[in-house]
Amino acid sequence: MTTSYSRRPLVAGNWKMHGLRKDSSALVLDLANELSRRSPGATSAVDVVVCPPFTALADVRWVLDKADFARLGAQNLHWEDKGAFTGEISGPMLAELGVSYVIVGHSERRQHFAETDETVRRKLAAAGRHGLRPILCVGETLEEREAGSTEARIESQLRGALAAGGASAGGTSGVPAGLAVAYEPIWAIGTGRAAGGEDAERIARLIRAVLADVGGPDLATRTRVLYGGSVKPDNIAEFASQPDIDGALVGGASLKAADFAAIVAAFAR
Ligand code: PGA
Repeated sequence: MTTSYSRRPLVAGNWKMHGLRKDSSALVLDLANELSRRSPGATSAVDVVVCPPFTALADVRWVLDKADFARLGAQNLHWEDKGAFTGEISGPMLAELGVSYVIVGHSERRQHFAETDETVRRKLAAAGRHGLRPILCVGETLEEREAGSTEARIESQLRGALAAGGASAGGTSGVPAGLAVAYEPIWAIGTGRAAGGEDAERIARLIRAVLADVGGPDLATRTRVLYGGSVKPDNIAEFASQPDIDGALVGGASLKAADFAAIVAAFAR
């Protein structure tokens, strides 16, 4: 690493809407076995997070209570603590289940469920209130990339999400404690076409520059920046070798224990 500040790598698996309860329990057990077989020291060097569907959180929690190698993450939360919001899940409900991380503003939420920078901002604040570490997702569409507006898009998503008013306990200038930012170009998600390592590193630096502007140099230095979008065992070295990329947010490959374990191992540096 070229930075003097050492950030602990973070690799999170986003299982999306995959897996019944028994499948989720089996997957997390397989992952425990793969990691201890392939790379026994990896989990002492890397924060591993698994984000099953809401319905499987308690089952996966039960396995993790026995094999304590990963933290539990949720894929979404509501910004209010309780109320008449049919079908929604709140921060206190997640915290009660032993969830410690939560993905906020994933592009699939923005695209299919009309999430905006404003709802993302409110969700970040809710995560902060309940001690959930948010993994904030930002990323540009293919059209935005081709129009040369990638940087502007990332910057506006980040500033919109972290705008003053989202203040929460323990955070800096409205930024929740333990924030991680995942750069996930939308054109790379689930397409098999990942960004290049240097390209992702350039955006990771931009993210740090915006964080420095919003919350000061300390926030920029300590926040973990992840890459996500078609991460696989055979392309992960390209990202893990970049000084400003501190981990990965993994979709499809996180459903295969051997692949996810290989991605975790790549960050055990
Ligand atoms: P993918 O998904 O790894 O399947 O591209 C990444 C994500 O959506 O976080």
